[in-house]
Amino acid sequence: MAETAERETEAADVQPRPAAAAVQVRHVRRFDRADRYLHFLMMCSFLGLAATGLPLLFSEAPWAKAWAHALGGFEFGGTVHRILAVTLIGVFVTHVGRLLHRVIVKKDYSIFWGPSSMVPQPRDIADLFGHFKWFVGAGPRPIFDRFTYWEKFDYWAVFWGMAIIGGSGLMLWFPEQFARVLPGWLFNIALLVHGEEALLAVGFIFTIHFFNGHIRPEKFPMDMVIFTGSLPEAELRHERPAEHERLRRTGGLDRLNAGPPSHRALVVGRFVGTSAVIVGLTLVVLIMYAFLTR
Ligand code: HEM
Repeated sequence: MAETAERETEAADVQPRPAAAAVQVRHVRRFDRADRYLHFLMMCSFLGLAATGLPLLFSEAPWAKAWAHALGGFEFGGTVHRILAVTLIGVFVTHVGRLLHRVIVKKDYSIFWGPSSMVPQPRDIADLFGHFKWFVGAGPRPIFDRFTYWEKFDYWAVFWGMAIIGGSGLMLWFPEQFARVLPGWLFNIALLVHGEEALLAVGFIFTIHFFNGHIRPEKFPMDMVIFTGSLPEAELRHERPAEHERLRRTGGLDRLNAGPPSHRALVVGRFVGTSAVIVGLTLVVLIMYAFLTR
């Protein structure tokens, strides 16, 4: 009798009840296909822009000359830079177009306020302070929702970064056209701003953004969600308890049930993510080297 009960208990441990098993493997959709493709294009074009722009900025450094030579010369690098700039601007315009479509056509105003909005809200300030308290063990981990305060910071950094780097880049690209309406001294400023903003963006994306996405203990070695579009329900519950609870209450967990990502998606995602980290960190090391050996 006791042996049978023991075996039943063991079996229950090994084979969870169907409902529990379903909860364990359920993946919840976070990003749609268009968001993932846009992020992929943004990532590739940004890396390429940094890789073709930085040799110009540090054109005196030996590595920059060797790098520009490997790319086919400074002039060819400049042409690639312009092609990638068009790609990045295209990604930005598509993203803004999708937001406008949501508001104007679908009458979906959730982008302006609430949990699906990237607009900073009072809760983000409370979360920021709560998070720092948690870092030093002085309070509980904040109950994060769909977008955390640092994700909103990253998002808006790209927005104003695009205006500054894109605007100044277009001035460098089409000086005659801009000179019809702008004073000459602004072109010197544009060159300065473009280079400094590039350093800021590269420094930020390839250290802090990479840390958040890949290196922090909870994510190591890599957060796959931006490549696969979905994350395990348990991860969602742990990382964004407020979103998980809302989805659970409103039937969103079933609506967004994505199933586990395919092997192919995981392999491609790991390859793309690892390549981006390697290229990005190499660029950061080269920038530091260029500054130290000036
Ligand atoms: C998005 C729109 C962008 C446009 C339209 C643009 C355009 C340009 C143009 C026309 C030049 C001059 C190239 C030459 O002399 O052949 C340039 C230089 C440069 N770009 Fe961009 N770019 C853009 C984005 C970026 C990004 C995202 C980065 C880096 C992350 C970047 C980094 C640089 C750097 C470092 C230089 C050299 C500046 C200098 O010589 O002081 N650019 N860009």
